[in-house]
Formats: sequence, C-alpha cells, structure tokens
Amino acid sequence: MEPERTSHSVRETQAFAAELARRFGPGRVWALEGDLGAGKTAFVAGLCAGLGVRAAVSSPTFAIANEYRDAASRRRVVHLDLYRLSGPEELDSVGWDDYLDSGDTLAVEWPERAGDRLPPDAVRVRIGRGPGEDDRRLLVSAPPA
Ligand SMILES: Nc1ncnc2c1ncn2[C@@H]1O[C@H](COP(=O)(O)OP(=O)(O)OP(=O)(O)O)[C@@H](O)[C@H]1O
Ligand SMILES: [Mg+2]
Repeated sequence: MEPERTSHSVRETQAFAAELARRFGPGRVWALEGDLGAGKTAFVAGLCAGLGVRAAVSSPTFAIANEYRDAASRRRVVHLDLYRLSGPEELDSVGWDDYLDSGDTLAVEWPERAGDRLPPDAVRVRIGRGPGEDDRRLLVSAPPA
C-alpha cells in the first residue's frame, strides 16, 4: 500500500479516500487526525463515495454523529466528530460501543478524544498541511491484516 500521498485539492483528497475505502472495504473504523480545517470531513465524503454510500456529508460537530445510509448498497457509514467531547467517559452518551458493535463503517474525527477506546485495528489517517494553501499530506497507517 502507498502509505503517503500529497493532495492539492479537495477532489484529490476525496479521490484518495475513495481509493482507500475500496481497498479496505466496508466495516472498518477510520481514525482521522488533523487540525481544524485539515480536511477530515472532506475525506469522509470520499470514503462514502468509495463505499457506494451516496450522501451529503457535512460536519456533525453539533450532532456528534451523522449516519449515512444508502438504500441501493444497503451500507451505512457513521460519521462521528468527537471534537466537543471532553474525554472517553463521554463516549457512552454517544452510543460508542453500539456503533463499534454494529459492523458499520465508522469515520471518526478527533479520535484522540476516544483514548484507548479506539479499537486497535482502526485505519489511521493523519492529514497535515503542505506548503501551498490547498496542499495536504495524508499519512495512512493500518494494522497488518
Ligand atoms: N487538498 C485539500 N483537501 C481537503 N480540504 C482542502 C484541501 N485544500 C483546501 N481544502 C479546504 O480545507 C477545508 C477542509 O475542511 P474540513 O471541514 O474537511 O476540515 P476538517 O478537518 O473536517 O475540520 P474540523 O476539525 O473543523 O471538522 C475546506 O474548506 C476545504 O475546501
Ligand atoms: Mg470536520
């Protein structure tokens, strides 16, 4: 797997996410790390596209969780933004364990907030900024299969 990629646009970030989604398949937990405005939500839109889940992806900052379902593929992607969580003890009110047990794809922004309740087999994607305004560096690490 190519673990690192430079993106120069939202489209490129989404295309890379879609490619990774097809490679890893449905039912994975994705831990998306990066600062505010890094492109985590943009990445989730690409994940959905790659999994055949047509959805209007938007930031769930206020709702904590957005659930995207696709009637045709019968797949669901749960998009969690843990930014507002003060710590792992608040995960229960989000329904964290139920989401993990559901077998659905989970895309988690601010996964640091989940502490050690983030499953060890999560696919980690670190999004950092590059030299240009729209440049992003994406670093992917996944546990060995
Ligand atoms: N190469 C790129 N990839 C992704 N987003 C980009 C890129 N270049 C510019 N952007 C812009 O960066 C912003 C990314 O916003 P996004 O909501 O995806 O960030 P985020 O990491 O989810 O932030 P937050 O932590 O606030 O939820 C958007 O305004 C997008 O247009
Ligand atoms: Mg976001």
